[in-house]
Amino acid sequence: MNDSSTARPTAITDAGGRPGLELRGPGGCVRMTLLGAHVQSWIHPEHGEVLFMSADASYAERAASRGGIPLVFPWFGAHAERKDAPAHGFARIQPFEVAAQGDGPSVTLRLSDTEDTRALWPHAFLAELTVSVAETLAITLAVTNTGDAAFDFEEALHSYFVVGDVHRATVHGLEGVPHVESASAPQESPPDPSEPIGFCAETDRIYQGVPDRIELRARELDRRIELGTRGARSAIVWNPWIAKAAAMSQLQGDEWQQFVCVESANCRENRVSLEPGATHSMELTLRVSSQ
Ligand code: BG6
Repeated sequence: MNDSSTARPTAITDAGGRPGLELRGPGGCVRMTLLGAHVQSWIHPEHGEVLFMSADASYAERAASRGGIPLVFPWFGAHAERKDAPAHGFARIQPFEVAAQGDGPSVTLRLSDTEDTRALWPHAFLAELTVSVAETLAITLAVTNTGDAAFDFEEALHSYFVVGDVHRATVHGLEGVPHVESASAPQESPPDPSEPIGFCAETDRIYQGVPDRIELRARELDRRIELGTRGARSAIVWNPWIAKAAAMSQLQGDEWQQFVCVESANCRENRVSLEPGATHSMELTLRVSSQ
């Protein structure tokens, strides 16, 4: 197993000098940082870079860099009550530690509650993110309630995919699935729910009760990305379009045209309830092929 294309994870630093790991397997090379257990890059042997990272991404010590696969936990979006709490939870700005490393291209990173996390969210937990590179890229987020009272949480693997040209990208598999649109300037006429999702305006939709297979097609790149999930009942489809992109941090000029986020999640009415001692797992497997 230990040839040059399949090896134990190696230590790296990211563009900001922050510690991380590189995993090489038959499905390519994955780079991630320990801050937020953030997968920043996946270079597929035939298709090249699969994940979008902004050229303007910040790699400051505690920055959630825009792009890759940020980890959203334990709340999605803005905190329900606290304006000072970070958007999409605190996990993406917390340093994870290495919990386990295999002989092959697989690693588990872990985060548990600290004084800082309890000040924002008063619960005892263990969050473990396992990343494995085989022919596919597989990511599992397992959350355990290590305290003595039940809690609810939200979670998402907030994947930013390179699509070349968002106008030529479509999402398949969510036809007929109920959704809520929260874009401030969505497309004027509501989309036909029986059609695959296309992009012609700001799109920020939460789909609930989703199937375990969704596909993103990027015609500009002659690429399909299959998202297979287990334990994910929500999906978010997001592109900020022109006006929102212009007002956002860590996004350059026309970069909004280059990506689509398809997020695998459990949020809002599908948030997870965990009893003391219980563990919930959400798995995402990504496969890339030609159209
Ligand atoms: C998406 C949300 O998940 O993340 C959007 O649905 C949000 O509303 C986007 O704008 C980016 O969030 P952030 O905090 O990374 O800028």
